[in-house]
Amino acid sequence: MRRLRIAHALPFLAGLVLVALALAGYLSGTVRAAPQANQAAAPAGQQVDNSTCLFCHSKADFTLTMSGGETLLLTIDEEKFSKSVHGEEEIACTSCHTDFTGFPHPELKASSPREIATTYYTTCQQCHSEQYSKVLDSVHQTALAGGNLNAAVCTDCHNPHEQTRLTNKDTGELLITAKLHIPQTCAKCHSGIYDTYKYSVHGAALTELGNLDVPTCIDCHGVHNIQDPTTAQFRNETPQLCAKCHANDTLMRAYGLSTNILNTYVSDFHGTTVTLFEKNSPDQPTNKPVCTDCHGIHDISKVDNPQTGIALKNNLLIKCQRCHPDATSNFPDAWMSHYVASPDKYPLVYNVNLFYKFLIPGILGGMGVFVISDIVRRLIERRKGAAH
Ligand code: HEC
Ligand code: HEC
Ligand code: HEC
Ligand code: HEC
Ligand code: HEC
Ligand code: HEC
Ligand code: HEC
Ligand code: HEC
Ligand code: HEC
Repeated sequence: MRRLRIAHALPFLAGLVLVALALAGYLSGTVRAAPQANQAAAPAGQQVDNSTCLFCHSKADFTLTMSGGETLLLTIDEEKFSKSVHGEEEIACTSCHTDFTGFPHPELKASSPREIATTYYTTCQQCHSEQYSKVLDSVHQTALAGGNLNAAVCTDCHNPHEQTRLTNKDTGELLITAKLHIPQTCAKCHSGIYDTYKYSVHGAALTELGNLDVPTCIDCHGVHNIQDPTTAQFRNETPQLCAKCHANDTLMRAYGLSTNILNTYVSDFHGTTVTLFEKNSPDQPTNKPVCTDCHGIHDISKVDNPQTGIALKNNLLIKCQRCHPDATSNFPDAWMSHYVASPDKYPLVYNVNLFYKFLIPGILGGMGVFVISDIVRRLIERRKGAAH
């Protein structure tokens, strides 16, 4: 009988212990502005209503001083959460915070806010395994594994409590607002590159005019599987990267830009070699110029830009001199840019080409006729000799 009574009292006792623990946390002094802990903890495994968590976490200026000395903001903006994609999809706090059942919380092992970010993001794998496995192979993950805690994890690019929808739910297409925001996402950590990109022909079109035809960071680098862009392979594939858009007639027509870029590049003395090179030794970086050696990378400008444009001989010469250190001011004349020689542009080259077009078939053809007539003559003579 006695045992039974204790069993009856157990839930009550457990409740008392929980309230005491919650109060202890509240009174410990590390937590400021923590609200009254009068919410009961739910048994493990059972989904806790978001309002239970938000009862405390929606309070403004709710902070915790972590053991490393930094302050962690514990406030979750209820309004922003409800408008976020996870709020809209009715994802429970505890679907991500799987080991939380109310208060008190599991022991906090992280000593800084950054350590929370770099350990808690693994919860995303439950529902986004596709993106998660791509990331495993990225420069960011490699840097993180190498101990660089500043490398991007999921939550640096997607605030789990505030991220709004990025793609159209039905078509899966990237939303316009999402595309416009991408460079800023990367700028959080790559601000120097962003500041350069912002003023480039591509970046200015995107950030100032909302033009969606130009590349953002991810068109050139990828998103979840970003690779090291300083490798030989990346360098050798640059012409194909740019050609994705610059050889596309429909896209380029709107800007009056030539799409003969890749063809003329591949057929000139630099490009021919790069194309062959890429096929034969993909792990060696080419020493011939690729698009970015002449045009720049994050600072590409209009070719006729009065300050930086490379249609201006002096600006182009600087680029040539990197590899042809002795080049002087008329050196770029030796090269035809992206033009195919015609009677108007480069008439000399055109005429020389024309000359060779006739001269070479002429000589070879003449020799062919000569050789054949010689054979025929010898055959006839041999036959004549046999008849005698
Ligand atoms: C009684 C108020 C209260 C309730 C209810 C509450 N929390 Fe907390 N939460 C806190 C306090 C105080 C901290 C500071 C760390 C600590 O004391 O454990 C915290 C810290 C956190 C942290 C960050 C640090 C850590 O411990 O990992 C997360 C995440 C968190 N809470 C999630 C939740 C979730 C999810 C719920 C709902 C299941 C919830 N909280 C319910 C008061 C509360
Ligand atoms: C989609 C997953 C997800 C959902 C849903 C979610 N969280 Fe979080 N939460 C995280 C991750 C991951 C972190 C780790 C910190 C970071 O990187 O922002 C975190 C961090 C926190 C923190 C620590 C402070 C901070 O911002 O780093 C608190 C407090 C917290 N969450 C409370 C909540 C509450 C309350 C809810 C429900 C209203 C909730 N979370 C819903 C994933 C989620
Ligand atoms: C319990 C499941 C669950 C977890 C865990 C979860 N999410 Fe989600 N997430 C969803 C659902 C459902 C959607 C809506 C997907 C859809 O409609 O295509 C979504 C949408 C998203 C989107 C927008 C996708 C789009 O196409 O617009 C992003 C970004 C995102 N989640 C990031 C994260 C991150 C980062 C984490 C980890 C902190 C995380 N999610 C954890 C369920 C989850
Ligand atoms: C370096 C920034 C960055 C990191 C890190 C990152 N994402 Fe993304 N993610 C983006 C951008 C930008 C987009 C939108 C572009 C797109 O969809 O092609 C996106 C799109 C998404 C989408 C929408 C569907 C899709 O694939 O296009 C989901 C879901 C998502 N991310 C989840 C995650 C998860 C989970 C992680 C961690 C494993 C993660 N992301 C890490 C930047 C990042
Ligand atoms: C939270 C900070 C953070 C964010 C956000 C971030 N990165 Fe990074 N990124 C890093 C760190 C740290 C490294 C490693 C740098 C190193 O190893 O020198 C890195 C490395 C890289 C590299 C390889 C650089 C190299 O020299 O090998 C590329 C490319 C890159 N990031 C692109 C992006 C793009 C594109 C985005 C946006 C979609 C982005 N990053 C967002 C922190 C970030
Ligand atoms: C038009 C294509 C293109 C766009 C757009 C672009 N990049 Fe790059 N990026 C490259 C190329 C090519 C390289 C390789 C440079 C080299 O050979 O060293 C590179 C190199 C990098 C590197 C590593 C080398 C370094 O300079 O530190 C980072 C980090 C990087 N880019 C981030 C970004 C970010 C962030 C954005 C958006 C603001 C962006 N990129 C936009 C093509 C691009
Ligand atoms: C050896 C230097 C060099 C290389 C390599 C090079 N370009 Fe150019 N490019 C130029 C110069 C100089 C101009 C301006 C003069 C002209 O119009 O030909 C130009 C012009 C352009 C233009 C403007 C065309 C127009 O219609 O006004 C585009 C676009 C372009 N290049 C893209 C590329 C791409 C893509 C690649 C790689 C496949 C590439 N370039 C390789 C030097 C180069
Ligand atoms: C996602 C498509 C896309 C990619 C990839 C791309 N570009 Fe562009 N680029 C454009 C568009 C669109 C414009 C026209 C922008 C404008 O004039 O507002 C442009 C403009 C230019 C111009 C200026 C031409 C002029 O004088 O008006 C140059 C040079 C250029 N790109 C070079 C490159 C190089 C080099 C690469 C590869 C490293 C590259 N682009 C990759 C879409 C792209
Ligand atoms: C990234 C390095 C690089 C850049 C930049 C570069 N070149 Fe070259 N160029 C080469 C290499 C390597 C060769 C082959 C040399 C050889 O085989 O002897 C070459 C060959 C040439 C040749 C053939 C004649 C010769 O000297 O062998 C001309 C002409 C030439 N380049 C002009 C230019 C012009 C004009 C520019 C600037 C618009 C330029 N190059 C920029 C690397 C470069």
